Amino acid sequence: MIITLDGPAGSGKSTAARRLADELGFRFLNTGAMYRAVGLLCEQSGTDLTDADACGRTAASAQLVQTGDRLSVNGEDWTALVRSPAAATAASAVAVHPPVRTALVALQRTVGAAGDTVTEGRDQGTIVFPDAALKVFLTADAEARAERRWRELRETDANVPLADVLAEVRDRDARDERRSAAPLIPAADAVRYDTTGKPLETVVADLVALARERG
Ligand code: C5P
Repeated sequence: MIITLDGPAGSGKSTAARRLADELGFRFLNTGAMYRAVGLLCEQSGTDLTDADACGRTAASAQLVQTGDRLSVNGEDWTALVRSPAAATAASAVAVHPPVRTALVALQRTVGAAGDTVTEGRDQGTIVFPDAALKVFLTADAEARAERRWRELRETDANVPLADVLAEVRDRDARDERRSAAPLIPAADAVRYDTTGKPLETVVADLVALARERG
């Protein structure tokens, strides 16, 4: 069984998807971490982030392995590295390129084919797993999403201003929604779920109930 959670930055997808996967005993796939890794790999190698083919080659040659919550890139643990705002910005720059998406979609489908999976991203219900048993599109007010990201970021950078995080979240959403390759849109058959003001426990309980209805 495949369950997809898509939605904009800071909608609470990762935490909710991880918890849902734990509750159901499913594998958890964080596809944003893959785009973040490719963005950082391109930056590290001096690849022009606007060069679709060069970024695509980087994506195709990268060894990305997700085990639970951890991401290994070419044999190194990049779990913490990919969480930075710089990685998020680089991710949304390389994510517009079809060759990058082709490489990562293939990898994501391989993981999904291996067994029960909860996967989260922007295009999981629309492109990657169109036959998923349950598709959820998570939303929340931009301010609520920025505040969520800001609280996470403050664990490592106490000085980051909330206004900067809100601007970054809005920029990234605009880029993700307007791109022509796999734009951020809800699948026609997705359940829309607004997380604004909802405690995580409520979100997880509601998602578990939806999954059990479909399972
Ligand atoms: O979800 P996360 O914030 O980690 O995603 C980082 C960026 O990667 C997004 O802003 C988006 O541009 C890209 N992404 C994507 N498709 C996915 C997952 C992430 O384009 N399935």
